[in-house]
Amino acid sequence: GQQAEPTATEPRPAAVRENSGQRGKFLTTAQGVRLPDTDHSLKAGPRGPSLMEDFHLREKITHFDHERIPERVVHARGAAAHGTFRAYGNASSVTKAGFLQKGRETQVFVRFSTVLGSRGSADTVRDVRGFAVKFYTDEGNFDLVGNNMPVFFIQDGIKFPDVIHAGKPHPDVEIPQAQTAHDTFWDFVSLHTEATHHVMWAMSDRGIPRSYRTMEGFGVHTFRLVDAEGGTSLVKFHWKPVAGVHSLVWEEAQIAAGADPDFHRRDMADGIEAGAPLEYELGLQVLPDSDDEMFEGIDLLDPTKIIPEELAEVQLVGKLTLDRNPTNYFAETEQVAFHTGNLVPGIEVTDDPLMQARLFSYLDTQLTRLGGPNFTQLPINCPHAAVNDNLRDGMHQTLVHHGKAPYLPNSVDDALPTTATEAEGAYVHRPVEVAGPKVRANPASFDDHFSQATLFWKSLSGIEKVHVIEAFTFELGKCFSQTIQERMLGSLAQVDAELCAAVADGLGLPAPDGTPAEDVTPSAALSQIPPGPGPIA
Ligand code: HEM
Repeated sequence: GQQAEPTATEPRPAAVRENSGQRGKFLTTAQGVRLPDTDHSLKAGPRGPSLMEDFHLREKITHFDHERIPERVVHARGAAAHGTFRAYGNASSVTKAGFLQKGRETQVFVRFSTVLGSRGSADTVRDVRGFAVKFYTDEGNFDLVGNNMPVFFIQDGIKFPDVIHAGKPHPDVEIPQAQTAHDTFWDFVSLHTEATHHVMWAMSDRGIPRSYRTMEGFGVHTFRLVDAEGGTSLVKFHWKPVAGVHSLVWEEAQIAAGADPDFHRRDMADGIEAGAPLEYELGLQVLPDSDDEMFEGIDLLDPTKIIPEELAEVQLVGKLTLDRNPTNYFAETEQVAFHTGNLVPGIEVTDDPLMQARLFSYLDTQLTRLGGPNFTQLPINCPHAAVNDNLRDGMHQTLVHHGKAPYLPNSVDDALPTTATEAEGAYVHRPVEVAGPKVRANPASFDDHFSQATLFWKSLSGIEKVHVIEAFTFELGKCFSQTIQERMLGSLAQVDAELCAAVADGLGLPAPDGTPAEDVTPSAALSQIPPGPGPIA
């Protein structure tokens, strides 16, 4: 609402501090000058022309002209909500991170997104979903920037521009489903067999979630946790939806994309509005820290691999409740800036080469997207912990710093902050050994590109397998190039013979050598599904 008019003697009225931009009863210019009329430009006579002198016309149009900022280069379309994270306390044995200690409550902001579409694209398209959580902890902001799938297409972040170029709407016509865009995506995937495991997830029902409230989330990479005594363990982060995991079927997803392109964001906003918060539990797979960072033959630095839950149970350590819609989409959902490098004491990253590139990328892209280095001052990005940095000036600086030029150590300015010890809460990196020759190469332990894709396939029920077959057939069916289709069938043959033969059949192509030619079309696979429990009474 509107607030009392400021007096000249009150230098910083409450509304200025709160950044509401709305105070006083009268409409004004940005300079606070009251306006008599905002519907008519100043003209030389009622028939014009309009006068250059009209500061109100020029300010109004100029500001409007600059209302948009660049959309994110990936994950452009998103929706977000505020909430609270409550820690159960059992994680205190593995991490000293304050927000994971028993009973601690931390404010959060969570943004869900699709990856490839533009800001105006539809919610229910087949894609990976972003699941980015900003914890405003007492020790600084911690961002868990995850996805709804536990693995990634590439093992090294240097390929990220390539996989995104191959998948984004095609540069000439900017149509996401353009036939040539299918060629480029499947060309990339079939030439990079490391992507096979992730495309299995993307072609499964996980690629078309029913609702944000029925999606799992994953930190993907292996992180290193540090406990209060300095002991370390390696972990994978999981979000488990309290409402369970549910997906759309393909026909529903397509109809929803037309009938309600805002299907997921509407579902979240309406649910919160109706008093039905979104709920997830945070889970940890805790693995022993080791020099080789391997577990049961799985390289923990390889982001195309999961740790099967049979080998390491997901232990639930807290609950996330999203119960408040943003007040302003631009100020919050659009301007929020997540960054994998926003870490708090007790949580460290590992040498996963995908993570290492991400640590550079987020801050870098936000310098452009949010117009300079001061976006942490935006309310949605502003830590709730006390901030006292020596960063100064720059574009869009809104703080008024006092005192002398900041540098440390300093014998002329007592007012400058001091550095802290680890006991005082400083983020001190574990002294993990780093050694080796400089090479552009992957370790041999990154070479297995198929066994976990097979594991995923075998984990599916009959109807889920049918959906995967149909999705591959539909998507590969949009390729112009038979060479690409055949190369992809070669990869699928390495995953599972039945899968490969069924997709080949759907495409009207022969299965690659060595694949049994028996009838494994979707309808045949469907007939093998045991009868379900019947309709719900
Ligand atoms: C944005 C997740 C890999 C670069 C995002 C967002 C999510 C995400 C959830 C949206 C953040 C938001 O809602 O604002 C992931 C996951 C990855 C991954 C889980 C792999 C495990 C990468 C890699 C790079 C990268 C390898 C680059 C080397 C970006 C960039 C943005 C972004 C530039 C836009 C950020 C912004 O404009 O604010 N990512 N990403 N991502 N990601 Fe990633």
